Amino acid sequence: SKGGYPFYMEKEIMEQPEVIAETIEPRIKDGIPDFAEDEIPDSLLKDCDRVCVVACGTAMHAGLVGKALLQSLVRIHIDVELASEFMYTDTIVDEKTLVIAISQSGETIDTLEALKYAKRNGAKTLSIVNVRGASIARESEYVIYTNAGPEIAVASTKAYTTQLAVLYLLTGRMAYVRGIYDAGRAREFARELLRVPQVVAQVLDRREEIHYIARGILNAKDVFMIGRGLDHSILLEGSLKLKEVSYIHSEAYASGELKHGTIALITEDTPVVAVVTQDKVQSKEFSNIREVQSRGAEVILLMKETYTLDKGTSWAGIFKLPAMRDEFMVMPASAALQLLAYYVSLDKGLDVDKPRNLAKVVTVE
Ligand code: M6R
Repeated sequence: SKGGYPFYMEKEIMEQPEVIAETIEPRIKDGIPDFAEDEIPDSLLKDCDRVCVVACGTAMHAGLVGKALLQSLVRIHIDVELASEFMYTDTIVDEKTLVIAISQSGETIDTLEALKYAKRNGAKTLSIVNVRGASIARESEYVIYTNAGPEIAVASTKAYTTQLAVLYLLTGRMAYVRGIYDAGRAREFARELLRVPQVVAQVLDRREEIHYIARGILNAKDVFMIGRGLDHSILLEGSLKLKEVSYIHSEAYASGELKHGTIALITEDTPVVAVVTQDKVQSKEFSNIREVQSRGAEVILLMKETYTLDKGTSWAGIFKLPAMRDEFMVMPASAALQLLAYYVSLDKGLDVDKPRNLAKVVTVE
């Protein structure tokens, strides 16, 4: 049942604090991320030279966040490949490559085929799957389950954030076993990760603020979503979510790339959603926002609460995200973007849980 909510999507968004906690907590031992119960040997995480994520849709977007995390905190080379392209682009994988397949259903045919290709080429394989015993889990050497519980809405929400939770745990564990983090730093990382459920809950408690802001894109034909670094990675997902459930054309753009073409499309009729949570690119991001505002765009701003805004700028909406360490801001910001897409769909009177032309499990190539 929908637990009193009008749609599964809302129920599943609201379940996130709990299912994220259930995914993280059993995997922290002595304060340090630990996959002993999943039977993941540390050698798997230590001996690889490269990581390659294969996945589709939302799961691929989770992989992009994983890429940013592993690259910057573990300093390992990592690629994220669309599973549907992986085999046809002669991707290079070998016995020193750890291939990670990410899939909610565990039955997506493209991801399954990519995994088989990786195995044929000698790679080590690990999957991050939600449905117990699914084909992708069975086909890979190692599996880590997300404890999201059944996800019914076609638009993935809690599966995504629990996939992210696993990727944080992997980052923490890899940094530790590869000697980049000592026990103290690994514990610090895990402590911040353990705060995620409560911080996401704070965003969900304020969902009516996002409902109000969502009116700014209700009648839009096109929406642009801009951000840099991790903010860009989560906007790709936020944009997919909006497209899927509201049928509004939306594009996520790395802010710095705007002036290489797309800014030509920004007018007073294209609302822009901007996410600003990363200290190191904050000031560049705000200047990109000023550029779109000067083309007449109305901007909905999701920003870390600690940032201050120039006086005199007008905004179509502002949502202040509870602060965490920068690399964890992905979590509260993603919850806010899910709610934004949800409320647009709800207020348009659409069938939120069953968008046209989409299936929950994609078993054709
Ligand atoms: O079951 P999977 O995670 O392998 O599914 C992958 C995609 O089909 C899925 O994430 C799809 O993009 C969702 N509709 C997104 O909301």
